Amino acid sequence: MTRRVRSRRLGSVIDAVGQTPLVRLNHVAKSAPAVEVYVKLEYMNPGGSVKDRPARRIVEDALADGRFSSEKILIDATSGNTGVAYAMVGAALGFEVELVMPSNVSRARKDITQAYGARLVHSDPMEGSDGAIRLVQRRVSEAPDKYFYADQYSNPSNPLAHYHGTGPEILDALGDRITCFVTGLGTSGTMMGTTRRLHEHTRKIHCVAVEPAEALHGLEGMKHMESSIVPAIYDPALPDEIFRVSTEDGWDMADRVAELEGLFVGHSSGANIFAAVKMAERLQRDVGGGTVVTIACDRADRYFSPLKWERKYVW
Ligand SMILES: Cc1ncc(COP(=O)(O)O)c(C=O)c1O
Repeated sequence: MTRRVRSRRLGSVIDAVGQTPLVRLNHVAKSAPAVEVYVKLEYMNPGGSVKDRPARRIVEDALADGRFSSEKILIDATSGNTGVAYAMVGAALGFEVELVMPSNVSRARKDITQAYGARLVHSDPMEGSDGAIRLVQRRVSEAPDKYFYADQYSNPSNPLAHYHGTGPEILDALGDRITCFVTGLGTSGTMMGTTRRLHEHTRKIHCVAVEPAEALHGLEGMKHMESSIVPAIYDPALPDEIFRVSTEDGWDMADRVAELEGLFVGHSSGANIFAAVKMAERLQRDVGGGTVVTIACDRADRYFSPLKWERKYVW
């Protein structure tokens, strides 16, 4: 019999952020048959990624305490999912968004954020993401009253979104069953906020941070901390363990979960799932069972070209 689930009725797209489903991996974790492995599908957020949560919380907290109002422009340095999330929140709530990104960022990223009406400012491609941060700082210092600098790498609202959202949702869905949580480090917001909440749980939950194994890697969204500017919100004492994944293993797992589980995830999610399966194998070997949860940060088609680009050539 099919169970009838009532559809949610929401006042705005912003209210669709969160309450993402947990899906069990039935095939790629077969090497640990007594361990359940779940993936939380953050790509089912309305902007298509885990970054909808911090973008929403950063804006709501700043509106609540007066740091931000619709007369100001939200500005940040981001070429990735956070830019898309800010642009979506800005469109829904009616404020301007300015995203600073190196000019060599993919056409697809520029098109998606512009489709939501965000303004793009290009920084020197030779200076990478650090150059974009410096340009934001310059623009804000020249016109401090004009801008709200969201600063996802230092803003405590980023991990708080996961402390109050991702963490409780995981505990709600799995209760006392969860034994291990695994997720990658970018700004570290997902890891910091979720882990703080899970560590408050009555039973010990082993929380593992995933990092790219190489400084030069292809796991977009993830940071190799040793060779990067470390985000101010990152507390290295919080993860119970650091697990390093090579680009090749992350990419291979992303391919495998598409073919074997029907989950079409980006490469950072592939790395998370690779690490989660390794943790499951260890639990199987050491204690004979357990429940592991990890995060699917975004979908693989985020890395394709959007419709608008196709239209120029097809129609
Ligand atoms: C695709 C992808 N994976 C992983 C992450 C890491 O998430 P966090 O910034 O919460 O550490 C991000 C963050 O931008 C991302 O876009």
